[in-house]
Amino acid sequence: MNRLLFPLLACALPLAAQQNQMTLHADKAVDIIPKEIYGQFAEHLGSCIYGGIWVGPESSIPNTDGYRNDVLTALKDLHIPVLRWPGGCFADEYHWMDGIGPRENRPKMVNNNWGGTVEDNSFGTHEFLNLCEILGCEPYVSGNVGSGTVEELAKWVEYMTSDGDSPMANLRRKNGRDKAWKVKYLGVGNESWGCGGDMRAEYYSDVFRRYAVYCRNYDGNRLYKIATGASDYDYNWTEVLMKNAGTKMNGISLHYYTVSGWSGSKGSATKFTDDDYYWTLGKCLEIEPVIRKHIAIMDKYDPKRRVSLMVDEWGTWWDVEPQTNPGHLFQQNTMRDAFVAALSLNVFHKYTSRVKMTNIAQVVNVLQSMILTKGPDMVLTPTYYVFQMYAPHQNATFIPFDLQCDKMVVRGDRVVPAISATASKAADGSLCISLANVCLDKAQKITVDLDGIAAKKVEGKVLKSKYITDHNTFDDPNRVEPAAFDGARIVKGKLEVDLPAMSIVTLHLN
Ligand code: AHR
Repeated sequence: MNRLLFPLLACALPLAAQQNQMTLHADKAVDIIPKEIYGQFAEHLGSCIYGGIWVGPESSIPNTDGYRNDVLTALKDLHIPVLRWPGGCFADEYHWMDGIGPRENRPKMVNNNWGGTVEDNSFGTHEFLNLCEILGCEPYVSGNVGSGTVEELAKWVEYMTSDGDSPMANLRRKNGRDKAWKVKYLGVGNESWGCGGDMRAEYYSDVFRRYAVYCRNYDGNRLYKIATGASDYDYNWTEVLMKNAGTKMNGISLHYYTVSGWSGSKGSATKFTDDDYYWTLGKCLEIEPVIRKHIAIMDKYDPKRRVSLMVDEWGTWWDVEPQTNPGHLFQQNTMRDAFVAALSLNVFHKYTSRVKMTNIAQVVNVLQSMILTKGPDMVLTPTYYVFQMYAPHQNATFIPFDLQCDKMVVRGDRVVPAISATASKAADGSLCISLANVCLDKAQKITVDLDGIAAKKVEGKVLKSKYITDHNTFDDPNRVEPAAFDGARIVKGKLEVDLPAMSIVTLHLN
């Protein structure tokens, strides 16, 4: 971690101790948490696609039509709602026509963004869209704007979604797929201010408008066009885009990584101090003011909140694992990452009147992934388990709440609550409450006022481990995994919970 950037970094200092109390406001529960908040991202990067998802039908690794069975099962269990593909930076060098037709005829390319690896294009449009059908998730296709043409992207949309007697629909049929796919989410470029073309906001606004005209709705498919958005604190990008192209888009993206800086070491994923951990929480939670500021700008141009904010890349970014290709971004995933996932999801739940989708980066073997693979072996990460435990929040109604709890000072001056929480109500009336005790060494009791919601039964799961650096490896795949939780009870209409130190708990009440 680059301490020079954060000279005030200090141990977490507890501020005044008080009784932990959460008060639900069920009468103010209005916003649905769209399932797309739990979106994933798969880029042609390292072993995310090749080896991680796709091994090809001839592989000795058990697979179904080329998709590895273990990963398919794990992803199905996660109920992933939407999958973004093929990048990332890769998207702006990807020429989709290289990835259709008989695999043996597909041209190879060099993946210039990610380690100079040879890409054989064996995973292309059909392989991706069929995967989405198998997983029951929406595809989110990112188009090539940086090095492609309007014609190329317009034809890709036609190829995927037209059912007519049109040249691209007929080409798709020739390649074995008769019926058009439904493709809702279309990204018009990626990071167009950087790897996606190094454009200025004013210029990209016009480029977006032009692409938006020719990416058409065919045969009942309605595209949801997402403009390349800002990174982190670049509020000017959002301002210019909303001003110049706000009426032409359905969504605009935002990328925010929990990272110590873009040059030099980002710190080890597994070897870090308690200070590093608390620093990470502070950086992770900084996403909240960032989201608020982007939303405030969007509100100026779009007060009715027609345009969505899509946080289509987020998560931790550490140094790659030793002896792996630095361009492949293969990183381990500890309890610290699990906290980043839980705290980030807790933030996203609060802004769903504007934030309609988020996509953690990335699904397999890259950055803060759900799954790690090595040859035929697979492990599920602590982050996977957070997504699994949080799945009941998908499409439930967010319940606003007040939370009084101990606070800590991290990164010199940032105040981090010792408990992070979220709550939602499902269509069947059941409640789901998630609580994270971020303290490494202090168990905490919390009382939850259910605001009159009658609940008789509570059951739950807890994710915890001995050390914050604990993680799952191919030799020790089950070190961190959820267990049944018996520390919660309903007493006189209130929920009382004993949260172990360093734990993430999800409770179901009915
Ligand atoms: O997720 C890895 C990379 O991070 C993506 O390709 C790019 O969009 C971002 O900079």
